[in-house]
Amino acid sequence: MWIPNLPITIVSAVAASAGALCIFKDIHGGPPFDREARADNKTVVITGANTGIGKEAAWEFAKRGAKVFMACRDMEKCEKTRKDIVLETHNKYVYCRPCDLASTKSIREFVHRYKQEEPHLHILVNNAGVLEPKEKITQDGFEMTLGVNHLGHFLLTNLLLDTLKESAPSRVVVVADSAHKRGTIHTEDLNMTGSKDKAAMYAQSKLANLLFVRELARRLLETGVAVVAVDPGLTDTTLTRNMPMMRSITRFFIYPLFWPVMKTPKIGAQVIVHAALDPKLATCAGDYYVDMKKTDPSASAQDFEMAQWLWKVSEKWTKLNEHKQIPQASAA
Ligand SMILES: NC(=O)c1ccc[n+]([C@@H]2O[C@H](COP(=O)([O-])OP(=O)(O)OC[C@H]3O[C@@H](n4cnc5c(N)ncnc54)[C@H](OP(=O)(O)O)[C@@H]3O)[C@@H](O)[C@H]2O)c1
Repeated sequence: MWIPNLPITIVSAVAASAGALCIFKDIHGGPPFDREARADNKTVVITGANTGIGKEAAWEFAKRGAKVFMACRDMEKCEKTRKDIVLETHNKYVYCRPCDLASTKSIREFVHRYKQEEPHLHILVNNAGVLEPKEKITQDGFEMTLGVNHLGHFLLTNLLLDTLKESAPSRVVVVADSAHKRGTIHTEDLNMTGSKDKAAMYAQSKLANLLFVRELARRLLETGVAVVAVDPGLTDTTLTRNMPMMRSITRFFIYPLFWPVMKTPKIGAQVIVHAALDPKLATCAGDYYVDMKKTDPSASAQDFEMAQWLWKVSEKWTKLNEHKQIPQASAA
């Protein structure tokens, strides 16, 4: 059968489908948070701000007038991103500071330097995250996923609590994940020794994030420090960069399938900006927000006794109360 202008018909059909997919992706991603909301005179610390969701959140805070400290492990990458942010937002109060969440020493040094430089902290965003395919351990011997995603942030937040309280009203925003629903806290062996199930390790770390939020919020009641957990949803970032599936040819088949339903990092970051700046969340005590809507986390994430148990173990493992002071010599 002869179809008139077949090439044109095919091109039009492809263009229309691509357009429809883009519109679907846009609608699925959801609207951005209030573009007018400002962050002038606010000081923000955000971990893992050199790429992905953290980078876009740092950009948003800078654009809205905040002083932003990017707490990153790789200063070269951080500096490159910082320069882009400063050029694009015209906000020169954006700084890179070394903070490797896989090292309690690095975290303590970051906090020590921060307190010497900066009297205030209004918004702490615990954003950095890893999903590692191989068994790796942190400098202190913790399984890497739990070490970075939970224990590192646990220590960082606790060491900054006095500054957060003095700067109240202030907020702690914790970037969680719906993967917490598949998580179990392995009380017998938090490091999950010998396990090869990285998805289970990630899920445990994200459940730990929410249990931390629960207990932190309880401890911070009446202090003026709000605590909010957010889930950015499936976002097109480099989080899975080291997973074998994403490093092989399989990626070229999987990626197009997920592309329409993945948020851009800019849209993924909106939940952080919402949690940090929406006046309605100023007294939030540990609620969980998905797509800027309050949502119930899993029952395990609301387990009060487990939250307390994990807090005590995290305190012990990170030696939170053992060295409150950092030796001058180790300060950068
Ligand atoms: N993407 C999603 O679909 C999704 C969904 C739900 C929740 N999340 C959560 O969103 C957060 C941000 O992830 P993303 O998707 O933006 O991933 P990403 O693009 O891989 O960014 C992760 C950030 O964490 C940093 N990081 C990793 N290990 C670190 C360490 N030891 N010390 C300091 N920083 C470290 C990375 O720094 P380097 O560049 O130096 O590695 C990077 O800046 C994570 O907490 C993740 O669990 C993501």
